Amino acid sequence: MDKFLTDIKKIRESARKHMDQGAVTEGYKADREQVIKVLNDVLATELVCVLRYKRHYYMAQGINADSVKEEFKQHASDEQEHADWVAERITQLGGEPNFSPEGLATRAHSEYAEGKSLIDMIKEDLVAERIAVQTYSEIIRWVGDGDPTTKILIEQINKKEEEHANDMYDLLAKVS
Ligand SMILES: [Fe+2]
Ligand SMILES: [Fe+2]
Repeated sequence: MDKFLTDIKKIRESARKHMDQGAVTEGYKADREQVIKVLNDVLATELVCVLRYKRHYYMAQGINADSVKEEFKQHASDEQEHADWVAERITQLGGEPNFSPEGLATRAHSEYAEGKSLIDMIKEDLVAERIAVQTYSEIIRWVGDGDPTTKILIEQINKKEEEHANDMYDLLAKVS
């Protein structure tokens, strides 16, 4: 039989055998448990970012507040979307997304910093975005080709975080 066809047959058989493992196939080269753990930290990071941007959205005041508020609102909804993507990926890997408020801040890479003035808030957001970009870049390198789907997901999220950092940088220049 054609080599390609035998391989397909083998792949189908093993796919059927491991149906209970969901999206995780034998071709999966990463440490699944470890990837789930890392993704749960990313989930916590995104959730903390949602909360921080929400707080900033409601607290933003002053002559420059309107455009800044809109930016905070948009970022909060982007971070929520990221959290959803990550939670979804965790379940695809057979894990459980950790949404527990207990220890959320400790699991997250970035901080929940309230910031007193509008400028402080923007600065805190810029710092948080820069931390996210740094840790996500490390995760991308670490996951490598062991789990291409997770890698692509984090790359996609990271691209957005770089945009966020840029947005905050621009706002800082505008407001100060
Ligand atoms: Fe995010
Ligand atoms: Fe972000």
